[in-house]
Amino acid sequence: MRTQYCGLVSAAYLDQIVTLCGWVHRRRDHGGVIFIDLRDREGLVQVVCDPDRADMFQVAESIRGEFVLKITGKVRRRPAGTENANLVSGEIEVLCHDIEVLNTSATPPFQLDEENLSETTRLTHRVIDLRRPQMQKNMMLRYKTAMAFRRFLDAQGFIDIETPMLTKSTPEGARDYLVPSRVHDGQFFALPQSPQLFKQLLMVAGYDRYYQIVKCFRDEDLRADRQPEFTQIDLETSFLGEDEITALTEEMIRTVFKEVLSVDLPQPFPRITYAEAMDRFGSDKPDLRVTLELTDVTDAVKDVAFKVFSGPATSGGRVAAMRVPGGATLTRGEIDEYTKFVSIYGARGLAYIKVNDVTQPNETGLQSPIVKNLNEAALRTILERTGAQSGDLIFFGADKTKVVNDALGALRTKLGHEKGFVNGKAWEPLWVVDFPMFEYDEENKRWTACHHPFTSPKDEHLALLTTDPGKCLAKAYDLALNGWEIGGGSVRIHQAEVQETVFSALNIGPEEQQAKFGFLLDALKYGAPPHGGLAFGLDRIVTMMTGAESIRDVIAFPKTQRAQCLLTNAPSPVDEKQLRELHIRLRQKATDTPAA
Ligand code: AMO
Ligand code: AMP
Repeated sequence: MRTQYCGLVSAAYLDQIVTLCGWVHRRRDHGGVIFIDLRDREGLVQVVCDPDRADMFQVAESIRGEFVLKITGKVRRRPAGTENANLVSGEIEVLCHDIEVLNTSATPPFQLDEENLSETTRLTHRVIDLRRPQMQKNMMLRYKTAMAFRRFLDAQGFIDIETPMLTKSTPEGARDYLVPSRVHDGQFFALPQSPQLFKQLLMVAGYDRYYQIVKCFRDEDLRADRQPEFTQIDLETSFLGEDEITALTEEMIRTVFKEVLSVDLPQPFPRITYAEAMDRFGSDKPDLRVTLELTDVTDAVKDVAFKVFSGPATSGGRVAAMRVPGGATLTRGEIDEYTKFVSIYGARGLAYIKVNDVTQPNETGLQSPIVKNLNEAALRTILERTGAQSGDLIFFGADKTKVVNDALGALRTKLGHEKGFVNGKAWEPLWVVDFPMFEYDEENKRWTACHHPFTSPKDEHLALLTTDPGKCLAKAYDLALNGWEIGGGSVRIHQAEVQETVFSALNIGPEEQQAKFGFLLDALKYGAPPHGGLAFGLDRIVTMMTGAESIRDVIAFPKTQRAQCLLTNAPSPVDEKQLRELHIRLRQKATDTPAA
């Protein structure tokens, strides 16, 4: 129907006759002349309708926003001074000879260029929202990014193999989405939290170098960077170790950023251990653009009078300080606000010291409600270790290690960005390596896998699996970018006995092992090669690349924070007949909600 996209008609088309199809973005009536901004996925073009062609002009007068038009006209230069440097078509306009209305449109629920639309409005009317130029850009960039990943992996000999969506639970730490079986009364499939086990089985089957751009499903609490269904760039290789896998995937990320954004990421990416990341930044995905750091002072406050510090310091907790250069100017109100902020992470307070005179580590030089309860030796150590100068402020966290890290880690990022403690770089990738194998779940009093239960322990830590699981490190690695975890993976266990030992450490007994993972344990017995891999979160990567605020802005049809699709109104009740076929009877509470 058309000769070119609206947004691509440039000065190269001067004096040519073009036929364009698109949506009416704006229509302006300029006393006798009608201007139409016609829009398609490539952008806008200005169409001019003169009244001397009466038939055509009559049609032009009737059109409204979002009508679909086919127009034919001659490309001419815009009058001097009316050019728009932001558009490919900014130097030209199309003098319209003929308009055909391909379809009319009801008045849209909002103007496409309206700002500050609520997300509810946008997601309810997602089709209109997706027409907005920014959303079209986001979707295009997502596609380009996915293609860049495919090209890289294809060139490296990776092959795309699909894995099932109707499957058994794959434990990645979230709740499963379940699908009832009609054929098997009372039985359920789980949607995959990732293709983890299948990709390992593919390695055993000899399909070295697998990849897939694949949907994963996790029923977990949603945040700005999480969706219940999201997309991974998932890959697995045989006969490569940890360093080779991270080197290869690092090259992939660098290549994709170069191709899609023309950005040169550092080479190589910096790499720190999990222990160092927690110690210095309180996070396993620190935003390295922020220049603030935590300093451990646990040992220095073991015997101070201030119980808030000495308590955690003598009972296995952590006391950490964060120096804020020039921070003595922070107001009482600001400190109160930060204190409220850290309480979200379970912190019971946010002690601070204003350093008025660093040469006097006592009540004369330091201003703080807590100084009188800290002795001079402790204060001296704190000032030395943090490198504090006169005019600085030092914040403190004292609690269980996890609370201190979560609270000060989050405060570091927030305060760093708010107060400009940033290094000015746009992109800060970081490998975090040497994760622990296990995390202690205080609530259920048991060990859980830090990555997933198929992750290999460090060779030299094998014995710790049974003697001291908390000390056992894993061959696991995460890639963080600007404070987001964009990918993670590990070298896997390829020996059945080791896998059984890890299951046992996780308190999964032999019977449960067989019932849940018998197929894996069996496969490992038939010549499983050493293997490992990683998965990147495509949605997160594209969110960062587009500068979008939420992951929902780079997914065509996302769910809300409450895991609903406002466009289709899913989830929704189903009729009784369907439930009966699935052998399901709803509990009273759920059936109380009226069927839609
Ligand atoms: P992991 O659970 O770390 O590893 O997931 C890999 C990456 O997927 C992204 N991601 C998410 N993105 C959006 N919404 C979510 N709910 C969500 N959950 C995870 C993150 C994360 O880094 N099977 C392993 C990988 C492996 O070991 O090879 C896995 O799934 O960017
Ligand atoms: P309090 O003695 O409870 O009045 O607290 C004195 C100071 O210590 C206040 O500034 C509190 O915000 C701070 N504080 C209390 N508990 C903690 C904690 N667990 N970690 C860090 N600071 C704390």
